[in-house]
Amino acid sequence: MEYKVLSCGIKMPMEGFGVFQVRDKAQCKESVLNAIRAGYRLIDTAASYTNEDAVGEAVREAIAEGICTREELFITSKMWVQDMQSYDMAKKAIDTSLQTMGLEYIDLYLLHQAMKDYFSAWRAMEDAYREGKLRAIGVSNFYPFVLTNFCETVAIKPMVNQIETHPYFTQEQALETMDYYGVVPEAWAPLGGGRYTPFTNEMLQEIAAAHGKTVGQVVLRWNVQRGVVVIPKSVHKERIEENFNIWDFQLSEEDMNKISSLDMGYQGTAVKHFDPDFVRMCTGRKIHD
Ligand SMILES: NC(=O)c1ccc[n+]([C@@H]2O[C@H](COP(=O)([O-])OP(=O)(O)OC[C@H]3O[C@@H](n4cnc5c(N)ncnc54)[C@H](OP(=O)(O)O)[C@@H]3O)[C@@H](O)[C@H]2O)c1
Repeated sequence: MEYKVLSCGIKMPMEGFGVFQVRDKAQCKESVLNAIRAGYRLIDTAASYTNEDAVGEAVREAIAEGICTREELFITSKMWVQDMQSYDMAKKAIDTSLQTMGLEYIDLYLLHQAMKDYFSAWRAMEDAYREGKLRAIGVSNFYPFVLTNFCETVAIKPMVNQIETHPYFTQEQALETMDYYGVVPEAWAPLGGGRYTPFTNEMLQEIAAAHGKTVGQVVLRWNVQRGVVVIPKSVHKERIEENFNIWDFQLSEEDMNKISSLDMGYQGTAVKHFDPDFVRMCTGRKIHD
């Protein structure tokens, strides 16, 4: 495992496990436990995934089983748009996430989207960070122009920006902007999120065969070699283990360039940030009373 050091000085593993759309609580808990048993230490959830409680349970069970300590884990969650309406609502949302997960602190907390009054929400996150409730704070889905304006305005710059990036959406400008502001990039949908087809791509299959690896491992490795943290999701134990086995090989510069050539730019297939209907859907979506 390799690590990134965030601007606040803490270490973040470069690979973690995501639980988006793992709505069944028992399945979520079992998947997180399988991930921790396989060696993952970073777990990525969100208030909007409605499985923070299952993640918390898995964390407690892993610690009770002696697999790892709390200090070795890096738990990430995210504030949903519904709570980004005022400083007070955001402050309450942070406490709700802590309570739901049953944790004394969260390692990384993110603003899930650049929507509603995210500046007020950020001020609540800055205060929770100063109080030690959040060890690091960051953002998600902040496109370069949004991130630039944000970094030029806030007191504490985000330590991480979690964005969609994989070989079909390489997001070079986003990475350059993050590098400029010392923000660590983290990839959601690093395997294409089930909407792209890396697994059947012949060029990726050839690179994988040459390294004795799978396409999934090659695609994840490509991102970490670009300096991007990856958080693949799977509910299958064997895939969870396979996806973690990316630390014993190196892609050549030629491999890296070939993989990057798959870039299709913004397709908006996963999350349509530039579509007013999508924004209305997010701003209207309630995840709790
Ligand atoms: N910040 C945001 O707005 C945002 C948005 C989306 C996601 N995320 C985070 O990023 C994480 C990852 O993104 P994601 O879940 O959308 O997509 P992903 O990890 O790129 O892909 C997950 C899909 O790939 C399949 N899969 C996993 N490993 C595989 C393998 N080795 N071979 C073949 N198929 C495999 C999974 O199926 P099975 O489960 O059936 O194995 C699932 O359908 C999420 O879980 C979440 O934590 C954040």
